[in-house]
Amino acid sequence: MTITISQGALPLPPGHFGLPVIGETLNFLYDPRYVEKRQKQYGSIFKTSLFGCSTVIAIGAEANRYLFANEKSHLSVGWPETIKVLLGIGSLVIQTGNEHQQRRKMFHKAFQPKIMEQSISGIESITHNYLDKWERMGTLNWFPELSKYSLDVACKFLLGVETSNDCHFSKLFEEWGDGLFSIPIRLPWTKFGRALHSREQLLIRIEEIVRKRQQQSHTSQDFLGLLLQIQDEDGNKLSLQEVKDQILTFLFGGHDTVASALTSMFMFLAQSPEVLATARAEQRQLEFKEPLTLEHLKQMTYLDLVVKEVLRVTPSASFGFRKVIKEFEFNGYRIPQDWIAVYVMRRTHQDSSIYTQPERFDPQRFAPERAEDKAKPFGYVPFGGGMRECPGKEFGKLVLKLLTAMLLREYEWELEPGQNLNLVLFPTPYPYDGLRVKFRRLAS
Ligand code: HEM
Repeated sequence: MTITISQGALPLPPGHFGLPVIGETLNFLYDPRYVEKRQKQYGSIFKTSLFGCSTVIAIGAEANRYLFANEKSHLSVGWPETIKVLLGIGSLVIQTGNEHQQRRKMFHKAFQPKIMEQSISGIESITHNYLDKWERMGTLNWFPELSKYSLDVACKFLLGVETSNDCHFSKLFEEWGDGLFSIPIRLPWTKFGRALHSREQLLIRIEEIVRKRQQQSHTSQDFLGLLLQIQDEDGNKLSLQEVKDQILTFLFGGHDTVASALTSMFMFLAQSPEVLATARAEQRQLEFKEPLTLEHLKQMTYLDLVVKEVLRVTPSASFGFRKVIKEFEFNGYRIPQDWIAVYVMRRTHQDSSIYTQPERFDPQRFAPERAEDKAKPFGYVPFGGGMRECPGKEFGKLVLKLLTAMLLREYEWELEPGQNLNLVLFPTPYPYDGLRVKFRRLAS
């Protein structure tokens, strides 16, 4: 496979642009097997049209490596217009160049182990409340519950506030999230129109939280504390608009992705009795008492493998979008300027030249003696890569391990029969029926 910068007139990748204006956007949004089908038809690089833009979809480790390595010189932010508008121009996801790099450096501080460690007891307390609630419910639709749970956890960690009893806040987030990948028609009854309205309401709520914090005399070293302290070279603080956009971005990044991964985790564990038994045995053997620490979580090495496999089979982000700012050649094809380039986590993780029987849920593939993810650089990309790699990945893994460990020790659950477990992919993957389960405390 060759990766060089274009020298002459090479062909465009195979594929077709679909219908006028909307192209293949509806297939992309509503058919979870769309990319797989086109890959079978055209191979691992193909052209199409999504969200009104000529697009190349490039699948696999080599493509990921190319896109991450050329982020500055040939590529820039390429998310669909709906996402840009709903996140706002002050969002890290939309920022580019020096501004983006400088903000990333700053946010890095908020995810240091010391800060994450301090948050564990607060997360444990939220977790106990949810476990008690789920036990009382007996049967539940888990994805919406996990979505509320992960929002509460993200609010506690990032902003230091409790949102457990604030159903309105989670409802607004749900409506906002539904608009992220939608058709950008701004009418009150369209998904996008409703999401815009929810954004306004969320920003009002976020501003209240920010103003309250500004009135406090002491400064906390959490995410919000850092946002309010940061100054540029001229001593200017971030504008209130940017603070609000950044908070919205991190609440989104830290909430839906985690809810999706937790839902997949509990589905796979319910379907894989051997994996479940081994994971429970590890918890029993470790016998850690609460409060858990980062060191305790580190010692849950089998659970680590399970987390990795969950994020391989069902990565919480299925695609990454970039805009081509300078034409390049990839694998013998010409990728013109102004096209959108999409990399694909899900299909990369199904590559049988990297993973044996990729369709199997098999955590042991990540054990040191097999280490299948090490076969090719960028063959395992649940958190993306390069300069836009997920800044919250360690915190995301912490939450996944913490809730799963607490569940494994004291609870059991089984899937209700007759439900649709096929995935809805956007904004993050979850089973069509939301994962309906019977939930109870383990008999002692
Ligand atoms: C299971 C958990 C998570 C997964 C699978 C995940 C996945 C990803 C991926 C794939 C990207 C890169 C997208 C791209 O290439 O453009 C990303 C970026 C990002 N993630 Fe995460 N994420 C997770 C958790 C979190 C958490 C907990 C936070 C914050 C609390 C967070 C905040 C962000 C932000 C702000 C970005 C944008 C980075 C940038 O553009 O520079 N994520 N995430």
